[in-house]
Amino acid sequence: MRLFSAIALPEEARLSLMGLCHGLPGQRWVVPENFHITLRFFGEVNGAVARDLDEVFSRIHFKPFEVRLSGVGAFGKENKPRMLWAGVEKTPEISDLKRKIEHAAQSVGVNLEREKFTPHVTLCRFKSAPGPAFGNYLQANSLFSHPPFVAECFGLYSSHLTPSGACYALEADYPEPFFSWTETLDI
Ligand code: 2AM
Repeated sequence: MRLFSAIALPEEARLSLMGLCHGLPGQRWVVPENFHITLRFFGEVNGAVARDLDEVFSRIHFKPFEVRLSGVGAFGKENKPRMLWAGVEKTPEISDLKRKIEHAAQSVGVNLEREKFTPHVTLCRFKSAPGPAFGNYLQANSLFSHPPFVAECFGLYSSHLTPSGACYALEADYPEPFFSWTETLDI
């Protein structure tokens, strides 16, 4: 199975992102139920590795942290973008969680190359160049922002590629197991 880890978005954030999904030619919009913030893509893994990942991820500790969506950007060339995204503020907390996930995956033998982390939510992928409309779109939406929400867990998702697009399924999610406990002890 093709697996990746990601942070899910609350309904209000999805609605807010849906407001960005119009006004561009040449694209395939991501359906709102597929919006997510990828922390790490693992690619194709077998069942034994998937079980190992589930085991090590369930032992990751992190404190719930705030996630802020702001701005829009693109990957690819300026005149030939590959995909459009909404930005996610790169806080130490989200970077730490990504690092913990990567270390955990490597500890069970998953080979991961170093990658630059630009946290984002993919909004569309381009089938053809959007042309001059793209510059206007980026400018018009540069001030996009959504009030922060708290990420209390991350998920392990499978991805199935179909002719009509990718289907993602939540295989397991991992809340911080001791957070409410620690809070109780602090009181
Ligand atoms: P993207 O949205 O930034 O393209 C499931 O496919 C998720 O994993 C997608 O959100 C995608 O991120 C990411 N992903 C898919 N293939 C990838 C790859 N080869 N390398 C890195 N990330 C990938």
